[in-house]
Amino acid sequence: MKAQEGLFLVAFFSLAYTKLVKGQHQPPEDCQTKCGNITIEYPFGISPGCYYPGNESFSITCKEDRPHVLSNIEVTNFNHSGQLQVLLNRSSTCYDDQGNETTSYRYFTLDNLSLSANNKFTLVGCNALALLATYGMQNYSTGCMSLCESPPEANGECDGRGCCRTDVSAPLDSYEFQFAPTSLADLTSVHRFSPCTYAFLVEDDKFNFSSSEDLMNLRNVTRFPVLLDWSIGSQTCKQVGNTSICGGNSTCFDSTSRTGYVCRCYEGFDGNPYLSAGCQDVNECTTSSTIHQHNCSDPKTCRNRVGGFSCKCKSGYHLDTTTMSCKRKEFGWAMILLGTTIGFLVILLGVSCIQHRMRHRKDTQLRQKFFEQNGGGMLIQRVSGAGPSEVDVKIFTEKGMKEATNGYDESRILGQGGQGTVYKGILPDNSIVAIKKARLGDCSQVEQFINEVRVLSQINHRNVVKLLGCCLETEVPLLVYEFITNGTLFDHLHGSMFDFPLTWEHRLRIGIEVAGTLAYLHSSASIPIIHRDVKTANILLDENLIAKVADFGASRLIPMDKEDLATMVQGTLGYLDPEYFTTGLLNEKSDVYSFGVVLLELLSGEKALCFKRPQCSKHLVSYFAFATKENRLDEIIDSQVMNEDNLREIQEVARIAAECTRVMGEERPKMKEVAAELEALRVKTTKQKWSDQYPEENEHLIGGHILSAQGETSSSIGYDSIKNVAILDIETGR
Ligand SMILES: *[C@@H]1O[C@H](CO)[C@@H](O)[C@H](O)[C@H]1NC(C)=O
Ligand SMILES: *[C@@H]1O[C@H](CO)[C@@H](O)[C@H](O)[C@H]1NC(C)=O
Ligand SMILES: *[C@@H]1O[C@H](CO)[C@@H](O)[C@H](O)[C@H]1NC(C)=O
Ligand SMILES: *[C@@H]1O[C@H](CO)[C@@H](O)[C@H](O)[C@H]1NC(C)=O
Ligand SMILES: *[C@@H]1O[C@H](CO)[C@@H](O)[C@H](O)[C@H]1NC(C)=O
Ligand SMILES: *[C@@H]1O[C@H](CO)[C@@H](O)[C@H](O)[C@H]1NC(C)=O
Ligand SMILES: *[C@@H]1O[C@H](CO)[C@@H](O)[C@H](O)[C@H]1NC(C)=O
Ligand SMILES: *[C@@H]1O[C@H](CO)[C@@H](O)[C@H](O)[C@H]1NC(C)=O
Ligand SMILES: *[C@@H]1O[C@H](CO)[C@@H](O)[C@H](O)[C@H]1NC(C)=O
Ligand SMILES: *[C@@H]1O[C@H](CO)[C@@H](O)[C@H](O)[C@H]1NC(C)=O
Ligand SMILES: *[C@@H]1O[C@H](CO)[C@@H](O)[C@H](O)[C@H]1NC(C)=O
Ligand SMILES: *[C@@H]1O[C@H](CO)[C@@H](O)[C@H](O)[C@H]1NC(C)=O
Repeated sequence: MKAQEGLFLVAFFSLAYTKLVKGQHQPPEDCQTKCGNITIEYPFGISPGCYYPGNESFSITCKEDRPHVLSNIEVTNFNHSGQLQVLLNRSSTCYDDQGNETTSYRYFTLDNLSLSANNKFTLVGCNALALLATYGMQNYSTGCMSLCESPPEANGECDGRGCCRTDVSAPLDSYEFQFAPTSLADLTSVHRFSPCTYAFLVEDDKFNFSSSEDLMNLRNVTRFPVLLDWSIGSQTCKQVGNTSICGGNSTCFDSTSRTGYVCRCYEGFDGNPYLSAGCQDVNECTTSSTIHQHNCSDPKTCRNRVGGFSCKCKSGYHLDTTTMSCKRKEFGWAMILLGTTIGFLVILLGVSCIQHRMRHRKDTQLRQKFFEQNGGGMLIQRVSGAGPSEVDVKIFTEKGMKEATNGYDESRILGQGGQGTVYKGILPDNSIVAIKKARLGDCSQVEQFINEVRVLSQINHRNVVKLLGCCLETEVPLLVYEFITNGTLFDHLHGSMFDFPLTWEHRLRIGIEVAGTLAYLHSSASIPIIHRDVKTANILLDENLIAKVADFGASRLIPMDKEDLATMVQGTLGYLDPEYFTTGLLNEKSDVYSFGVVLLELLSGEKALCFKRPQCSKHLVSYFAFATKENRLDEIIDSQVMNEDNLREIQEVARIAAECTRVMGEERPKMKEVAAELEALRVKTTKQKWSDQYPEENEHLIGGHILSAQGETSSSIGYDSIKNVAILDIETGR
């Protein structure tokens, strides 16, 4: 029992499942589809289960091999798009000689089907009026009238004489034909040639009136073809959504004349859209259907594709879409123009490519030229000749410099002076350097520049700004220095760093450091060097306020002082040795003079040259000389440094400064002596508070990455040999 029940359940559910999978109701395979020679298609069907359920209007009865809908209306054609061609009886009313009226076929109904708009209500007869009245949701009637005084001409049109017609638009169920003679007298006058009045519905163009034949008996035709509309259900496509019965390759459309929807195959498909696999691609190239026929002018070019076709032309031909025929491709003016333009562009591209290459080569050549011009070869030669241990100067490439300064970006400028511009540079290893770029190159002094690079690279002194390398590939050579962070002595005394005043201890130490450096340059360095532009602006201070002498005159340019004191002389006015100025004879004593001025600046806090001071005191040296003479030295010493404890030291330093600034070079002490005297002063001082600020000497030598604000600065001059050579370049301003 149980097993049987289970089997039953399985069978039941599998049945339900197949129905569900197929979506909406689908007819079984074995339905009768033919009635006579007419094919009946779903949703219509003959036996129950074969037609769309719920509406009997889809049920077909097959009588005498003729299909009927609504049991007694013969169907002559089924249409997938929601129309049905049926045959409907005509209605007639006849009058006998006494005026007795007999009317046939007055009423009919079209349950759940409706008259299509493609039908005409037609009246054939004379002096009569006919109406089609409908009953249902709303009452409606339409009709026309025909008048004839005499028999109408043969083959007259249906124009109101013997025949009239009108459109019908009444989607209703029940209809009634109604007749009325215009008058009995009129009727009798036409009786002999028009005994009856006929009214009927007929599909457009399916009835052509013939006055000679039709007025008597409508050629014995009792039924006329009529189109009826049908639809599925009473909901719109939107309302039914995916539960519509439309099959694959088809879409749902709302019925235009009724409620409900109809289904239609996609363009290029044909079949019954109400079956799940009804719509199939039409092969337009082989079909005999005129609706789906291809329109290629040559059938051999037709190629079918799903949902359409194409006309494929041989290569060298193209399809002319107006005639659907293949035409030989023509190269019109447009093609010629296009070709020419493309060709021109290609040539242009080629030329610019070549130009770019040549420019690149030229750039390389130019860089090579600059390198030679700037003495690169010479430097390499000298450097290699000097032995590897002696020289440690790196040669940078132009590209590297550009990258380090971010393309010589303005935000990287540390200072700008008469000689050129100093940029802050960041090397690939992230070390910070100062890169000095002179304003102009000078071929004549390339050798001196090279010597200088060579000499500077050999100076390994803790109080000299270290030269790390140079770049010779640019028009003007670039020099790369260690970066000093704390500005110049000038800045501290008179400029931007004035707010952090230097104590006397600082000043004395700086003086000692500078003196020691100059003494070293003059006598200890492997080749004696005269700085030639010693001044506070060329003394840099690092973070511990340790002095770093800078600007060994790498570039030889017209100096431009901060106060706009342009001078043709190499050196800076105010610091310039008057003897050197007048004779042009340069020796180490010039540096001594300049150093004396620096000492005076340290003492007084005054600028070397100041036009605000009285006439004879504009120059700091004479200012000092006068004060000393008048014994009012204490008046001009910087009040910030002066105190009881250091008075004696200050007096000593003032004396040394005065000696250094003597007019006659021979009377000035040597730098070595000056350094020794200053050092002695410091040693004498019992309290060496600041000595512990002195870090290990080597630390600074090696730690090249500290560095500098080689700000604008100076106008220095290159080194000169100490051999008392007369260098007559005072007037070398170019
Ligand atoms: C279909 O049958 C009708 C009569 O039953 C006949 O008049 C008609 O010619 C037939 N049509 C075809 C295509 O056989
Ligand atoms: C049958 O057809 C009528 C008219 O088209 C419609 O209003 C009705 O909902 C249909 N019934 C079913 C069950 O589809
Ligand atoms: C027409 O549709 C209505 C509503 O669905 C139904 O009750 C009636 O039986 C249908 N008539 C015919 C002839 O199918
Ligand atoms: C059937 O549908 C076609 C279009 O799909 C239409 O031209 C035709 O008039 C319809 N009716 C009949 C009875 O064929
Ligand atoms: C049409 O008329 C014939 C007789 O003339 C009749 O048998 C038939 O039922 C009529 N058709 C309809 C739909 O009333
Ligand atoms: C119709 O004709 C009959 C005789 O055939 C006659 O008796 C009758 O009166 C006539 N009816 C009308 C309304 O004319
Ligand atoms: C339509 O006409 C019938 C009979 O003439 C009548 O009974 C019915 O009320 C009318 N309906 C409307 C909506 O006027
Ligand atoms: C009626 O005439 C039109 C145009 O002359 C023609 O296309 C059509 O086929 C004719 N219809 C019938 C039923 O003869
Ligand atoms: C119409 O039918 C009648 C009798 O039924 C017949 O006498 C007449 O010849 C027929 N006319 C035509 C044109 O077929
Ligand atoms: C119809 O669509 C709904 C959601 O849009 C979905 O849940 C349902 O499964 C679909 N039914 C069918 C038969 O595709
Ligand atoms: C849709 O049409 C394509 C091409 O004819 C056919 O292969 C496919 O089976 C059709 N889809 C359905 C669901 O019938
Ligand atoms: C040929 O047919 C295609 C699609 O059937 C149509 O788009 C095109 O306009 C037709 N061309 C001509 C010239 O008839």
